[in-house]
Amino acid sequence: MDRIGIIGVGEIGRAIVDGLCDGVDNPPRIQLSPRGARTAAELSQRYPNVRVCADNQDVANRSELVVLAVRPQDRAEALAGLRVGDDGVVISLMAGVGIGELRETLGTGAPVVRAIPLPTVRERRSVTVTCPSHPVADDLFDGLGGALPLADESAFNVFSALTATLTTHYGYLATLTAWAARQGVPAEAADRYVRSLFQGVGRSLGDDKQSLGQLVGHHETPNGLNERIRTTWFDTANSEALAKALDALLADLA
Ligand SMILES: NC(=O)c1ccc[n+]([C@@H]2O[C@H](COP(=O)([O-])OP(=O)(O)OC[C@H]3O[C@@H](n4cnc5c(N)ncnc54)[C@H](OP(=O)(O)O)[C@@H]3O)[C@@H](O)[C@H]2O)c1
Repeated sequence: MDRIGIIGVGEIGRAIVDGLCDGVDNPPRIQLSPRGARTAAELSQRYPNVRVCADNQDVANRSELVVLAVRPQDRAEALAGLRVGDDGVVISLMAGVGIGELRETLGTGAPVVRAIPLPTVRERRSVTVTCPSHPVADDLFDGLGGALPLADESAFNVFSALTATLTTHYGYLATLTAWAARQGVPAEAADRYVRSLFQGVGRSLGDDKQSLGQLVGHHETPNGLNERIRTTWFDTANSEALAKALDALLADLA
């Protein structure tokens, strides 16, 4: 698709535009909604193929593919009265908003696809879950690091729940660093070391020949320090508490 519209130009809208345009020879024509005005203006100045439209309907009118990237709580205002032609395609990034509701709100015969891009689409390095599979959506995200199409929304919700664990991981690293600083080591040294330690984890995860279980085993000395923290802190109770929080989130997403 050569004409892509984005309604809601915030963090993820910007990442998609960068991924589609930065260093790309023949980028698509991109229409942006006027809200998120500063980001939209910046993007239209940086990329000649990007323009800011008069309003959300103007975006839809000029686009074959419309990406909805507003916060879920802003959807009523953003989508009120919006008309998308039956020959278009809609991709919604809004967490927790089902296809049925979107179809009803938009009253369109156009295919509606949900997707969960991550900010690393900016570097075209993120796998994006889509539901249901649609060639236009899958093509778009293949170009941004890969599409992972799913047939049904209940599986999609499981992946949504997984994405919700990301900032907990950063919080975990911040907690480790703060703990080290409380022991009297310089905070900058702890910060630098924790970052280096977990960048190594990122690289190991890139090797998909090893299962996650094997990675645990390969990084642990039997009865060693890692095994001790894993079994004494990330014990059955802790692991069950995590599963319970995910179960509750999944129930809400469904
Ligand atoms: N961030 C992520 O990593 C991520 C990943 C996957 C999915 N998502 C989903 O993507 C959506 C956007 O997330 P985000 O993090 O990019 O949020 P964000 O940074 O807050 O951006 C939302 C944008 O929507 C604009 N907006 C608000 N009301 C609007 C309206 N009526 N018409 C047009 N635009 C309007 C906002 O403009 P103002 O600044 O003027 O209010 C803002 O620029 C959410 O539904 C989220 O669930 C996000």
